[in-house]
Order: sequence, then C-alpha cells, then structure tokens
Amino acid sequence: MSGSVYFHTYGCQMNERDGESAAAWLEESGFRIVEEEEEADVVIVNTCSVREKAEEKALGKLGLLAASKRRYPGRCVGVMGCMAQRLGERLLERFKGLDFVIGTSRLHRLAEVIRCVQEGGGPVVEVGEAEEERPELEPFRKPVHPIAFVNILYGCNRRCSYCIVPSVRGKERSRLAKAILAEITERVLKGVRDVTLLGQDVMAYGRSAAVWGDDTAFFSSRFREPFPRLLEAVSRIPDLWRVRFTSGHPSGCTDELAWAIAELPPVCEHLHMPLQSASDRILRRMRRGYTVEAYREAVTRLRAAVPNLALTTDVIVGFPGETENDFEATRAFMDEMGFDNAFIFKYSARPGTPAAAWGETVSEEEKQRRNQVLLADQNRRSQAIHDRLIGQTLEVLVEGPSLRNAERWSGRTRTNKIVVFPNPGRVQIGDRVLVRIERAMPQTLYGEVAQNE
Ligand code: 5AD
Ligand code: SF4
Repeated sequence: MSGSVYFHTYGCQMNERDGESAAAWLEESGFRIVEEEEEADVVIVNTCSVREKAEEKALGKLGLLAASKRRYPGRCVGVMGCMAQRLGERLLERFKGLDFVIGTSRLHRLAEVIRCVQEGGGPVVEVGEAEEERPELEPFRKPVHPIAFVNILYGCNRRCSYCIVPSVRGKERSRLAKAILAEITERVLKGVRDVTLLGQDVMAYGRSAAVWGDDTAFFSSRFREPFPRLLEAVSRIPDLWRVRFTSGHPSGCTDELAWAIAELPPVCEHLHMPLQSASDRILRRMRRGYTVEAYREAVTRLRAAVPNLALTTDVIVGFPGETENDFEATRAFMDEMGFDNAFIFKYSARPGTPAAAWGETVSEEEKQRRNQVLLADQNRRSQAIHDRLIGQTLEVLVEGPSLRNAERWSGRTRTNKIVVFPNPGRVQIGDRVLVRIERAMPQTLYGEVAQNE
C-alpha cells in the first residue's frame, strides 16, 4: 500500500526543510505528495514547539483531523516535528484516532511507519533521542523555486533560559562539509540559485568537532575559522548566485566572518541576528551570552566591512522581570541599530525551561502593548529604509507570479527584501533581473524591470 500524502507545516525554516526531506523520502518510497488535504490518504502535521501559540495551532489542527476520521475512516493521520519529538506518546493519549507520532531524529523512517499503520499495525510512536543521527545525505524535491534551505548545524549548545529548542533538537552537531557541498551542488544543478545555510547558531559551524567532526580542512581556503571556510567553499559552486545564513550570534561575528561576507561575491549583504532584548539585566537572565555593547560591536564590525548590510532580528517582549525601563532600552537600541526588519514575540513560558520556573511578571495586556509599540516603530523604520531605495535599480531573483495577482510577479533582493513588479513577458522563474524601485511599503518594494541581466 502507499497513496497520497498532504503536509501541514508550522514553524521555522528548519521545520520547513524537514518537511521537504520527509516529502522526498516518501516520494522515493512510492507515495505521492498532493496539494489538497481532501485528496490525501495520509495527512501529516509538521509541528513547532517554540511558543505555546505554535503548539496550540498544531494541537487544534490535530484535534480536527483526529475527529475527521469518522468521515474519512481509511485516512491515516500523523504528527512529526518538534512537538512530536517533545511530547511523543502523550499525543496518542490525547488524540484517539491519531495513527503515528514520529520525532525529528527518526524522520527517515516515515515511509515504514506509514506502511505499518496502513497494514493495521498502528498506532506507532517512533521518537528516539534528539541527537540520533539521520542519514548524512538529506534528500530534496525537484525545485520549482530558485531558493532553497540547507542544514549545516543540527541542535544547539546554547542554554537560553526561555528556549525549548536544545531539549527538542539536542546538542549541537555540525554536518560534514562534504555532505553540505554535495547537497548544494545538486540543488544548483536543478535550478536553485539562492541558498540559506541553516542552524540555530550557524556561526558556530565546525566548532562542535568533538561531537561530530569538522572536515572543512579538506579544501584549501584563505580563512582559518570553519564557518568562513565553509562560506568560501559554498561560494565556489558554479551558478550559485547567492548564499546567506541564519541565525547569527554576536560571538560569531569575527573579523574573518566580516571579511568573508565582504570578499565572497555570492555571500549576501544580509544577516538575521536575534537581539531578544537590549537590557543587559534581561540579557543576563535570558543567558544570551552577550551584552548590549557586544551586540553593538559585532554589528559595527560587520558594517565596517559591509556598509550596505541589511540587518534583521528577533525580539521577545514581556520576559519575566522586564520593566518599562528595560523595554524602553530595547526600543531605543532598535532605533540605533536601524534594523531592516524585526520579528517581535510575546514571551511564552515553555515547560521545563529555567525561565518557566520564574513565572510571569508582565500581564498579557502589557505584553500586547509592548508588542504593538515595537511593531509600529519597526513599520516606521522599515518604511524610512525602503523610501531611500526609491529610484535605485536593484538585482532581483525572480520567484514567480504573486499569489494574489498573477500579473504581478515577485522576487527578492540580495538583502532579502520582497520586490513586486509587472512581468514584461520575457521574465521567468529563476531569472536575475534589474528592477527600478518606484514605490515602497514597510514589507514590500514595487518597481519595473529595467533589463534582464
Ligand atoms: N517565548 C517567546 N519567543 C520565543 N522565541 C524563542 N523562544 C521563545 C519563547 N519561549 C523567539 C526568539 C527566537 C525566535 C525563533 O522565537 O525570539 O529568536
Ligand atoms: Fe523550529 Fe524551534 Fe519551532 Fe522547532 S521549535 S520548528 S526548531 S522554531
């Protein structure tokens, strides 16, 4: 037996990448991936645990799917991703009708798990330890998109007091450079032009040699540190136009990294580096491992080498103990840094993390207010940054027609800004075009194609 499979994916880019691997493994085993839940014999919810709201969404969806088994008795319903890894068989107890739970470390066994369920052997729980190794080569689906995400580092060795990720995704393990380069090379041959290297603390790449090996020594490089070495090797892959990475940490912003971003043409002028707070007291309680001054120095170092660097960030409001003063310090610092974009999150206590034991000191209404204030600030800031781009001609990698209006096409700049433009007819997905910017909104730029490159 096999059949058709539909995925609901929540969460971050790493989870999306896992969703792609899962789909590719299933296709290799004879399953078909479909775009409509209604058509599917198997429905899989790919979950995130980072905030309570993310889990609530996935739990809500699972509840509906489990209940829908009365209407679709033959349908197989399963859950994967971070919440599956975290809760394991507790999910089976909660949802009668759920057929399987598969953890992040056992994903390559998905086809077997589904077959077992389809042959009457369910429900199945396949979770295992967070740090178990998956096959070194991660499969991918035929790209329909010029942009791809590639894991370089699994897990996380930091111990931020609010974060569930280390307990779900395990200790930091660097993936072998050989495997990373092979995956990217293959993807580029299939049409990918823009690759984002993924890791919770991506600049720590290769430092976890004791856990899993650093083989960046196998190629020659002008750099000494493993992450810049890897960036150089990736940059040498023919026809790969853009390389970026996420997420950064101030401790990784070395002179060598600044030099690598400046000197390696494919490495984009774009960095996502979570700030979380700009109060030293809160940063210490968060156990972020840097001070406000260290964050400032890291950004100054990178901007000295890469003056047009676009900087994006994450901020948490309402962390236990955050006072009005702490909040105002964050607000002022965000202005000082001039972030191109910022994702603002209301603090959410995660079970088992140190911060969860400290309780909540900021009311939901106050969190909401702080959230709105930072969002409004950021909108103004993004608008001002974008207004300065009006009249400029920017390189855009074309992603295709926009969802809402097929005549409007969209793509991204090297700085990761979305650009919308009317297709003059000759522009195709994966082209690199020059677009003259005519109008700007906080999240989008609008323009006309000047010429194909
Ligand atoms: N509550 C709120 N936001 C969180 N994040 C991580 N853990 C939590 C939490 N417990 C945010 C951080 C991180 C982003 C991916 O999610 O800002 O950078
Ligand atoms: Fe990604 Fe973290 Fe959510 Fe897992 S818990 S999907 S690693 S954001």
